[in-house]
Amino acid sequence: MTQYVHWRAGGVSLVLDCTGPRLPRILHWGADLGDADPDEFAALAFASIPQPVSNTIDRPVPISLLPEHAAGWLGTPGLTGHRDGGAFSTEFTVERTTEEPGRLAVSARDDAAGLGLLLELEMTEDGLLRQRATVTNRDPAAVFQLDGVLPVFPVPSEATEILDFTGRHLRERIPQRQPFTVGTRLRENRRGRTGADAATILAAGAAGFGFASGEVWGVHVAWSGNHRTLAERTSTGASLLGGGELLLAGEVRLEPGGSYRSPWLYASYGCGLDRMSSRFHRYLRGRPHHPRTPRPVILNTWEAVYFQHDLARLTELADVAAQVGVERFVLDDGWFRHRRDDRAGLGDWYVDETVWPKGLHPLVDHVRALGMEFGLWVEPEMINVDSDLARAHPDWILQTGGRLPPEARHQQVLDLGQPGAYAYLLERLDALLTEYDIAYLKWDHNRDLIDAGHSPTGAAGVHVQTVEVYRLLDELRERHPAVEIESCSSGGSRVDLGILEHTDRIWTSDCNDALERQAIQRWTGLLVPPELIGAHVGPTVSHTTGRVHTLDFRAGTALFGHFGIEWDITRADPADRERLAAWIALYKRMRGLLHTGTVVRADHPDPSLWVHGVVAADRSEAVYALVATATSVWSPPGRVRLPGLDPDTVYAISPLPPGDRLRERMRHPLPWWKSELRLRGRTLAATGIQAPVQHPERLVLLHVAAA
Ligand code: DGJ
Repeated sequence: MTQYVHWRAGGVSLVLDCTGPRLPRILHWGADLGDADPDEFAALAFASIPQPVSNTIDRPVPISLLPEHAAGWLGTPGLTGHRDGGAFSTEFTVERTTEEPGRLAVSARDDAAGLGLLLELEMTEDGLLRQRATVTNRDPAAVFQLDGVLPVFPVPSEATEILDFTGRHLRERIPQRQPFTVGTRLRENRRGRTGADAATILAAGAAGFGFASGEVWGVHVAWSGNHRTLAERTSTGASLLGGGELLLAGEVRLEPGGSYRSPWLYASYGCGLDRMSSRFHRYLRGRPHHPRTPRPVILNTWEAVYFQHDLARLTELADVAAQVGVERFVLDDGWFRHRRDDRAGLGDWYVDETVWPKGLHPLVDHVRALGMEFGLWVEPEMINVDSDLARAHPDWILQTGGRLPPEARHQQVLDLGQPGAYAYLLERLDALLTEYDIAYLKWDHNRDLIDAGHSPTGAAGVHVQTVEVYRLLDELRERHPAVEIESCSSGGSRVDLGILEHTDRIWTSDCNDALERQAIQRWTGLLVPPELIGAHVGPTVSHTTGRVHTLDFRAGTALFGHFGIEWDITRADPADRERLAAWIALYKRMRGLLHTGTVVRADHPDPSLWVHGVVAADRSEAVYALVATATSVWSPPGRVRLPGLDPDTVYAISPLPPGDRLRERMRHPLPWWKSELRLRGRTLAATGIQAPVQHPERLVLLHVAAA
């Protein structure tokens, strides 16, 4: 029988008490405890027993991986549900525990409640944890109404500050901090999609934790439907982070023998946010299906032409794209029947014969002949009431109560739980991918799910919708394994590790303003590595903010993601095109490093000076951006530290063209800018170098290479 489990990886230790008969509990999750004697954990368990105090239950309350009311836990329960009012509180007894390195499976049962439970817990080679729970109705005759499953990870009382995220269309993943006090910080999402305002990562750490300092523990729910993420601290001093799917009323009824499996709840620890973040990146990069080919430079037509599809114009755009070095040309919204604007056509996934009399062939052939890949926009889960599909199958629209949900962007949601609707989408998408040489689908999803009932009963359908879209993506990927799929949702409203199991990159935001993008990409990058973050150079005047930015600022911002363009470059002047080509050449030269290296961000005291970079996995080389997000507090701006390098290696530091352009007409140049600068990694991290004076909303790049 497994007693105590100690896993160590990447500077993290996890100690589990599996002595039973109740569900296992975490004794320690955090800094590496070294090579400890197993007896020490019995002592640790003993040393962790609190003193009984007045007016509480007489025995200590263990917080298991799935906390139970029956044990005296008075916080949010790990499992909620009932069988006709009964079986509302479980007390599971462990039946079997199997442990192999980095993987634990615990089967348990509660005969009184008629339930079985499987808890799975894993740790990657870099110390990232994840767990999920499967609940099975073992009653031979009666239904169990499951209302929620919420696994948790306890955190120590040293975690006194919470960081999580909110956001909106065009400004995703805005950080927000607050003290971690007694009570529940509960982030609930009922949008039926991940949401621009999702918690994304809910982290708790030592007060003031930064990118490089302060212990921090964070969780992420890998799910693209409704979900809950929480940080909870009780008056008895227990603290935990948890998360799971948010189930709508009646959404999961377990028939006899039926099961529900929760999404993975990921958990990452680090000294500083960068270390916490790097575990997510390494995990994602280790997956067999992670994109490993060079991420091609994209041109997306959306901000260039919107709905104005015209073969001659798009052909010219493709020509210029190829000239500047684009490798993948993506035709956005507007190509299918009835889709002349955003009021009609969703669901009619046939090429519009009036706009494209010869189908997409002339454009696809042209793009392919230029040596570029072709990509196509789709929004399969959506339907316009003004579409042939809605006219033929009004019952395929998610709805309840005999009324249509309020429209959003003039559209409704197609019920993927209807076998006919699912089959129709599969057939249409498969037909398009078969007929055309398509390398890439931009898969959009432009509204929240409101009143999302399944016909004819009107029962809540978000859970099934989420499961079915994953299945549809998988089935298409199986039929067309070479096709890459981007997860887009009104920009970056579907960014989570659930959708990333079924897709190959995310569209980070509809905002291509480089200043906004600095923030959006910085925080999105806490979870997602740069090669999966779609980052495009927008037009000189941003379409979403009206701000004007230099090409260098726009391109130097896009450089740190999966680089693309979303701009009518047929109208760009020749000098801009030439400079864009130089940036693309730099991206192509550096993408090997940028897409495999370690992302670092410096904690700079001046909030207007952002320093971030990517250090090669072997630390032989790095690229940093020094970003002036506003006018600086100090002038000159002072020294900046360059974190993440090998302490004992001597590096040569130099400005990296074309990101080396400093302020025009500087009277006094920065002394080191044009000379040979060599310093050790230790010195660069601890002391740093003078940052150049920059205008606001500009950046420069530094190349750092082992000398
Ligand atoms: C929303 C996406 O985020 C945009 O990039 C674009 O594809 C539009 N939808 C098209 O309707």
